Amino acid sequence: MISRRLYSTTGSAGRLASVIKNVDLLKTKSYINGAWVASSTNKKFDVNDPALYPKPDSKLASVSSMTLQDFERAIDHARVAFDEFKQTSGRYRSNLLLQLYELMIENKNDLATLITLENGKPYADALGEVNYAASFFQWFAEEAPRISGDIIPSADASKRIFALKQPIGVCGILTPWNFPLAMITRKLGAAIAAGCTTVIKPASETPLSALSLGYLVEKAGFPKGVVNILATDDTAAIGKLLCESPIIKKVSFTGSTKVGKLLMNQSSSTLKKLSFELGGNAPFIVFEDADIEKAVAGAVTSKFRSSGQTCICANRIFVHESIYDEFATKFVNKVKKDSLLGYGLNKGVTHGPLIHDRSMQKVVSHIEDAVSKGASILCGGSKRPDLGTNFHELTILGDVTPDMLIFQEETFGPVAPLIKFSSDQEVIKLANDTEVGLAGYFYSTNVSKVFKVAEELEVGMLGVNTGAISEAALPFGGVQESGFGREGSKFGVDDYMVIKGIVLGDIV
Ligand code: SIN
Repeated sequence: MISRRLYSTTGSAGRLASVIKNVDLLKTKSYINGAWVASSTNKKFDVNDPALYPKPDSKLASVSSMTLQDFERAIDHARVAFDEFKQTSGRYRSNLLLQLYELMIENKNDLATLITLENGKPYADALGEVNYAASFFQWFAEEAPRISGDIIPSADASKRIFALKQPIGVCGILTPWNFPLAMITRKLGAAIAAGCTTVIKPASETPLSALSLGYLVEKAGFPKGVVNILATDDTAAIGKLLCESPIIKKVSFTGSTKVGKLLMNQSSSTLKKLSFELGGNAPFIVFEDADIEKAVAGAVTSKFRSSGQTCICANRIFVHESIYDEFATKFVNKVKKDSLLGYGLNKGVTHGPLIHDRSMQKVVSHIEDAVSKGASILCGGSKRPDLGTNFHELTILGDVTPDMLIFQEETFGPVAPLIKFSSDQEVIKLANDTEVGLAGYFYSTNVSKVFKVAEELEVGMLGVNTGAISEAALPFGGVQESGFGREGSKFGVDDYMVIKGIVLGDIV
C-alpha cells in the first residue's frame, strides 16, 4: 500500500507518475479517432485530489478541456467509423471486449490508484470498482456473439416476419464521478457488443480514469473512431450538444434526476433514444423477523459504500419498533468498530472524503434540518477538518420522521437516518412515498412476506436479505424519476439496438 507520506512528498507535476507504475495510463489529452489530441483552444482544467483539496498539493493534473468543435469532430469520426463497425461480427467485437477486459485486469492496481486519487474512495473500494468495471467488458464479450433477432409467424400463410436487431448508431455517453470507470464500462461494453460507436464525456472531477481507459482501448486494437473519450469542464454545453446532435442516435446518462430532466428536454428535438440512471432515495427495511446481525451488516454495506455517494445507497432505514433499539445499538457499534475515515491510499482506511464542497453542504444541511426537527445523533455528526475539508464522519441519526429533508431527498453522503415503523402497510406506504425508485432493500426471514413486499415496493432493483446488489448480471436501472432503460445483464444490449421488422411475402 502506498503511504500518504510517500505520495505527498513528491512534487506536484511528478506525483502521479511516482505512484502509477504504467505511466502510459496517464493521459491529459483526449482520445479522438485513435489519436491523443489537445483542446483546439488549448484550454485546460485542473483535476484535484478531494482528500487534499484545497491544499496546493491537491492538484493531480491539468487536463485539456475539449470544446464544442472538438466534440463535433469526434461525433463525425464516430459516424464514419460506424459505417464499418456496424458490419463487424459479434465474435469480432467480443474479442475486442475480452482484450479490453484483460488489459484492465493487468493494470488493475494502477487503475485503482488513479480512482482513489481523483475520487477519494479507499484503495480497496477502488480495486473493487476496477474489477466491477472490467466485469462489464467480460459480460458483454459473452453477450456480443449471441445477439440475435427472431422469426415471427405472420397472420398470412404466404408471409414470414423477421425481427432483425441492428446497432442504433453513434452513442453519446455521459458519466458521473462516483464510479469513474464502472459507469463508463457498463455503457461502453453494451454499445460495443451491439456494434455502436461512441463519444464519451466523463465527469470533470474524474477524467483521468476515463482517459486511462482510452489508452487501453488503443492497446486493445479498437478501430479508429469507435471509442472517443473527451474530457471537458464545459459540462452543460457538451451535454446539450450530445443531446441535440442529429448524428448521435442515443444518449446514455448516469447522474441526477434534475440533469436527466434537462437532457431529456434537449433530446426532444431529435427524439433521441435515451437511457437514464438517475437519483434514488432507497428504502432499507428491517422487519421484525429479520436476522438483525445480517441486517446491520447489510445496512453498513449499503449505506456507507463510497461514503454514501452511490445512487443505490440506502437513504432511509426503516426499522420495526420491536427491534429498533437493538438494531440501532448494533448498527452504531459496528460502524464505530469497523470503519476508519482517512486518506484512501493509507492502510486500513475504509472510508474517504466527499467529492467536493457542494456534497458537504448537502450532508451538513440534512443533519442540521433533521436535528432541528427532533432527530438525535447516535454516531458521528460532524465534519473532520483535521483530515481535510471534504471529510465528514459516518453519521447515524435516530428518530427520523417523514417531514425531514433527509427523508425526502437523496443525501449522497455518509448519513444513515433511522425511522421507526409499526406495520407492514405503514412501511410500504412510507417507502413508496417518493418520486424516485431506483433501489430498495429489505430484511425478512418470512418467505411470503419476501414475495409480497418485493412486489409492492416501487423500485427498479431490490436487495432482499443483502445490502450488496451490484454485478454485471443485474438488470440495473430504475422506475419513476429514477429513469429508464436497463444496463448490464442480458437486457443491457437492447438499449443500444433497434429492431427492424422485415416481412417476406410470396412464400408459396
Ligand atoms: C451508481 O451509483 O449510479 C451506480 C452504483 C453501482 O453500479 O453499484
